[in-house]
Amino acid sequence: MPKRATKKGRRSVTKDFRTASKLVKDVLKTQPAETVAITWDTESDPEFVNSVEEAATKVGARPISIKVNAPPHVGRAAEPFLPLDSLVAGVQESDVWIELNGKWLLYSKVWEEAMKRKRTRYMCLVGMTTDMARRCIGDVDIDDILHFQRKLQEITKASRSMHYTTPGGTDIRFENDPTRPVLVEGDVFGPGEYMLLGQVDWAPLEGSIEGTIVFDGSVNPPDELGLLKGPIKMQVKEGRVVRVLGGREATIYDKWLQSFKDENMLRLAHLSYGCNPGARLTGNVLEDERIWGVLEWGLGNQSGTFGAANIVASSHSDGITLKPTLEADDQLIIKNGKYIHPKLVDAAH
Ligand SMILES: [Fe+2]
Repeated sequence: MPKRATKKGRRSVTKDFRTASKLVKDVLKTQPAETVAITWDTESDPEFVNSVEEAATKVGARPISIKVNAPPHVGRAAEPFLPLDSLVAGVQESDVWIELNGKWLLYSKVWEEAMKRKRTRYMCLVGMTTDMARRCIGDVDIDDILHFQRKLQEITKASRSMHYTTPGGTDIRFENDPTRPVLVEGDVFGPGEYMLLGQVDWAPLEGSIEGTIVFDGSVNPPDELGLLKGPIKMQVKEGRVVRVLGGREATIYDKWLQSFKDENMLRLAHLSYGCNPGARLTGNVLEDERIWGVLEWGLGNQSGTFGAANIVASSHSDGITLKPTLEADDQLIIKNGKYIHPKLVDAAH
């Protein structure tokens, strides 16, 4: 005989459904009769997949759920382990594609073909769980976050020279190209690639990035890393990692980067601000890169949405630097992990 749901259980199921509905309706703007592909794998949270499917059905859309075995890699490196053609066919003819895979299809042929087809509103929610969705979507005010992100976009777009440091030892300089876009993630308006809200990202001029980056929050992939116990220090020259220093975790990272035998895996692809007040440091990069006031670097493959060098690489990895102090053209934007630019203070409240 099935157990009766407790009052608390019922409340939480309702809240989870509300979170999934907010994602499907308010973020992805899914309309009745639209097709919604939900891709996931053996590392995903099936409970959240079900909530999203249910929310899409309630909207009157037509969801299709596609589950695969989690490959050992992400991006292009995952391709030999996937039913590639079936996945391509499944997502590229859908109006909405919600990626809940543990191992990203982002930057693989599946993503590439869907983006080329220009029909799909794709959102990358790799490794999203019910709890994370509640923190980063369900419990936050979407309009307030997008308003803050737009202010941050405006300031960044107008900034040329940037320099930032962290207590962990990051000390890095770079130049921005004012013709390149600064992306407000989560602001969905037609076919294209979108990330979860609470992140603003862009690609600085690759050749101008010089100094030291110290990942001290989390890094992923590789699978062996996540929350960091020890820092990973990287010396950067002209946008390339030339040396990785540190203890056991730095050695793992260095070996993983080198294992692809792909020079482009050592190139810096993007920088991102974290600005989702619900995000916590968990070891899951999808949430960690959105922690209020962190800065995150991506290495390897570079999305065309950055309108930048279009670096093509076997895979991609993201790492978090904590409590940055970021200066842009002699004006402080963040001090020790707090947004302090005058145009941001009100919006931050
Ligand atoms: Fe990234």
